[in-house]
Amino acid sequence: MKVLIATDKPFAKIAVDGIRNEVEEAGFELALLEKYTQKQELLDAVVDADAIIIRSDIIDAEVIAAAKNLKIVVRAGAGYDNVDLEAAKAAGVCVMNTPGQNANAVAELVFGLLIYAVRNFFNGTSGTELTGKKLGIHAYGNVGKNVARIAKAFGMEVLAYDPFCREEVILADGVKPTCSVKTLYQQSDIISVHIPANKETKQSINAELLALLPKGAIMVNTARKEVIHDADLVKYMEANPTFKYMTDILPDNHAEMLEKFPNNYFTTPKKMGAQTSEANVNAGIAAAKQIVDFIVNGNEQFKVN
Ligand code: 3PG
Repeated sequence: MKVLIATDKPFAKIAVDGIRNEVEEAGFELALLEKYTQKQELLDAVVDADAIIIRSDIIDAEVIAAAKNLKIVVRAGAGYDNVDLEAAKAAGVCVMNTPGQNANAVAELVFGLLIYAVRNFFNGTSGTELTGKKLGIHAYGNVGKNVARIAKAFGMEVLAYDPFCREEVILADGVKPTCSVKTLYQQSDIISVHIPANKETKQSINAELLALLPKGAIMVNTARKEVIHDADLVKYMEANPTFKYMTDILPDNHAEMLEKFPNNYFTTPKKMGAQTSEANVNAGIAAAKQIVDFIVNGNEQFKVN
């Protein structure tokens, strides 16, 4: 059995070593493809792989067709919008994610971005504090929960909206659930975006929602660029010069955003939320264990297709 780690953005070495241990202890072989620049490198590497561990790497129908022995793909992380689930299903390939394993890392980055925003990008002028501000968590999954925990330590008032999460779960964390996404946007000084990118959510953060935000709001997006309606965001920022957009996912209109809003827009150059040794170890080793358990015992927990 051959397990391939295919990561354009490599895991920390300690995580690769941990994955290797899991894989070799099971009697499997590990192959590594990191920092590839051409899709062909991926297509060549998957040819004899029985299992693949990926991050945001694109696994489309062509990659699946090239991987003749493939049985399972595990996305070491939360979002699996980078995998063609239908093509995988049609080819009898199981797709899994490793929910929660990198959530704390992403949540910590939210606050890195927020401090940078409220301190005016460290430009020397007086900023503001997070204490006492209202933080609206848009989707209360694993990352949202960690964001709430940290926000409370900052003395923030925390609100959340999630149609898929029971109100009791949100309330139990000392967080105020809102009845609609509109209410969340109306009542929050800061919005932290944690919705996945899917048919329903793509471009859903649009003019209508943005218009509900109070003056001087901040939006931090550590989720996916696709959930933002880029043109609407530009228009909103032109009309609301005190709004700040902080993101961990380089938008398609990055050049325009940077040119128009140099003091109100910040993006990391490459998605860094989950890029900590701890998150790499947690997600990478979970992925390896899930592969071994699937191949040896047929365990399909965490299957998403
Ligand atoms: C996720 O969905 O788990 C995060 O977006 C992290 O993605 P990454 O593994 O590519 O950093």
